Amino acid sequence: MDARIDDRQEGMLPAASIRQALEQVRLRCVACRAFYPVLEPGRTARYRCNCGEVLDVEIPLRLPASLPTSSGSAPLDRDPAAAWRQLFAERAALVPGAPGASIVQRSGVWRYRELILPLPDEAIISRAEGNTTLYAVGSDQQQETQASPGLRRIGDYAGLAQLYLKHEGENPTGSFKDRGMVVGVTMARLMGARAVACASTGNTSASLASYAALAGLQALVFLPAGQVAGGKLAQTLAYGARMIQVNGDFDAAMLLVEQVCDELGIYLLNSLNPFRVEGQKAIAFELLQQLNWQAPDWLVLPAGNLGNTSALGKAFLQARMLGLISRLPRLAAIQAAGANPFYLSYREGFVRRHAVQAHTVASAIKIGNPVSYSRARLVIQECSGVVEEVSDPEILEAKAVIDRAGIGCEPASAATVAGIRKLVRAGIIKPSERVVAILTGNLLKDHQTGIPRAETVSIDPDLASVRRTLDALGPLTSPS
Ligand code: F0G
Repeated sequence: MDARIDDRQEGMLPAASIRQALEQVRLRCVACRAFYPVLEPGRTARYRCNCGEVLDVEIPLRLPASLPTSSGSAPLDRDPAAAWRQLFAERAALVPGAPGASIVQRSGVWRYRELILPLPDEAIISRAEGNTTLYAVGSDQQQETQASPGLRRIGDYAGLAQLYLKHEGENPTGSFKDRGMVVGVTMARLMGARAVACASTGNTSASLASYAALAGLQALVFLPAGQVAGGKLAQTLAYGARMIQVNGDFDAAMLLVEQVCDELGIYLLNSLNPFRVEGQKAIAFELLQQLNWQAPDWLVLPAGNLGNTSALGKAFLQARMLGLISRLPRLAAIQAAGANPFYLSYREGFVRRHAVQAHTVASAIKIGNPVSYSRARLVIQECSGVVEEVSDPEILEAKAVIDRAGIGCEPASAATVAGIRKLVRAGIIKPSERVVAILTGNLLKDHQTGIPRAETVSIDPDLASVRRTLDALGPLTSPS
């Protein structure tokens, strides 16, 4: 696929304004720091440096020329951080879905576009992604939980007085992947791609399939055969992607898709693509805004291919650089013990990169050789981060606690709460610290793993049968 934007077939977007926007974007190697323009004449899209390492997007972080002018505004020229906050506040104030709300107002990704990819409105696609709930679940957050005792049980379990869960399973396709995918697919369209592809443990493929359909692009997904949860398969097929099951694990599918994209000129949309990582930064910006720009002490998330760890770390570093927050949260990346290559490297002080044969019930993070290792290592080091591992029983126990609180999540997401409990018990996270954990996927993504078996009771439709059945099941008590 050539990086030509003037003779694109579909969409007929105004080439001049897009070229102008893309000319401000550079790709930088995370290792040797070589720079590349996004539009390289006569060359296919670039995902790696000539040295083989992954790339990072660099944009000038500039306030838009015309700022909203609300009453009582701060002196914008003297306090740019206040100007940023005001810009995001005014965009977020418009209720998503309200008539007349623009994409930048409705989307929890494009709301922050000057920090992600500053494209003109006409270039952007969106499903109003983001805008996810930050649940206060700490044992000492009565006021914020609005007397929801169910939620506080999660804080009790984790051992924290102040704990927030940001539920990224509330995104349009039910996982955090939509945030990066909306930016990746927007770029695919701008680059004139006709088809997009990814390898996936299931959520990326569902998200890719949805956004590709939205943009009128053909999606091709490579999945580890027999290892993807049912809900994710159903979505991917329903949205119309071509699905190829690979006899091997995710890591094999990942290696394959990179070759396929190079050979066949298909636009690659794994988090190897640095624009995916840019979109995922929006999780951090949105949660900081929800916390009134008071950074938490810790940000905890599940880690697989390490795109999200890289994205959140980068976002916090940029937020501090812009003065949006005054200090960095510490990052805690949690891996499944059977899929723990990043943990092994961390434990050795990152002296070498590990790869493992991955095994875990949390199929979303069943990854043995993460693509974004180098990016993630840098942000863990810069954010005084830690990497922890949790066993499958620990993941499933934490999932049951989150599910029964009425929120629910898929197994990989529960690794966060399991990890927090372990880090609190080890004295690494202090019980008084303020912690945000990311729940990455919706409960319905995987409707089998860790779900209690239904006690199937069928009765005749009369009150006496109900009474008899309830007596047999035990008294109705409200849980304390
Ligand atoms: N949680 C869920 C639910 C995921 O689907 C993934 C990754 C992760 C956590 C880990 O995030 O890879 O950025 O470190 N899922 C990818 C996929 C690999 O194909 O859907 P990461």
